[in-house]
Parts: sequence; structure tokens; C-alpha cells
Amino acid sequence: MEKRVLEEFLEEAPDIILTVDRKGVIVYWNKSAEEIFGYVKKEAEGNSLDIIIPEKLQQRHWEGFNKVMETGKSKYSKRDMLSVPAITKSGDKIFIEFTITMVKDNDGNIEYCFAVIREKPKK
Ligand code: HEM
Repeated sequence: MEKRVLEEFLEEAPDIILTVDRKGVIVYWNKSAEEIFGYVKKEAEGNSLDIIIPEKLQQRHWEGFNKVMETGKSKYSKRDMLSVPAITKSGDKIFIEFTITMVKDNDGNIEYCFAVIREKPKK
């Protein structure tokens, strides 16, 4: 399949798809991410994931995240969902659920972490 088609899929998917590098810097942010979190691509890419993580969870997130980047091992298995609250640009609290996929470089070190995220319906 042509790369262009895959890029269009990432961009247009109704799920939020975002990518961070091993330092946790956002390097990809699709249209659904713009719509649901309220930050446009230009504001999000190059920024830290902290823009959507509630302050009181940031430390736990980064401890877990950095450990996985160093060891290459996650305590979540492939299809486990992480379920957490998130903060949008306008300050609203929403609930999200997501899977993570690690992409390694040729030396076997984690290079990128992809997240496929859905907003949980409000009850
Ligand atoms: C609102 C957004 C987010 C919140 C509140 C959040 C919060 C957390 C918390 C509390 C943990 C610790 C979990 C535990 O110890 O069981 C964690 C771990 C982690 N988070 Fe996040 N996170 C968020 C978004 C993301 C995103 C978008 C990614 C990936 C791009 C990500 C990647 C990770 C990874 C890799 C871990 C380590 C998992 C492991 O220990 O195996 N997080 N996060």
C-alpha cells in the first residue's frame, strides 16, 4: 500500500492517534486529537504530553513511561487498555481509554510510542 494512503488513514481516523518519541515529546497528532483535545497540530507537535495529563497524574505517568523506555518492557500486555482522565485545552476533564504500541529502532531501543485513544462516552 502506498505511504500516502496510510498517512491519510492516520489523519482521518475517528480514533485519536498520536505519537511521542522516547523523551515523551509529541511528534504526531491527528485530526481527531485536534477535535477532542482542542489543540491544533502546530500547538501539540513538539510539546510535552503534559498538555493533556492532569497535573496530579504527571509524576506517575512519567515514572512508568521512562521505565518502559529504558527497559523496553511494559507491565501492560499487548491489548490491555489504559483508562485515565485527561484535560482538554479549554480545561475540561474527559475520560479516555487507549492502547499503546512501541516502535523500536534497528538496535532494539524504543524509538516511538503510538497511542490509539477513544473518549469514553459520558454517562
Ligand atoms: C491524559 C493522558 C494520560 C494520563 C493521565 C496518563 C497516566 C499514566 C499513569 C497514571 C501511568 C502509570 C500506570 C501504572 O503504573 O499502572 C502511566 C503509564 C504509562 N503511560 Fe501514560 N498517561 C496518559 C497518556 C499517555 C499516552 C498518550 C501515552 C503514549 C503515547 C502514555 C504512555 C504511557 C506508558 C508507556 C506508561 C508505562 C506503562 C507501563 O508501566 O507499562 N500515556 N500513564
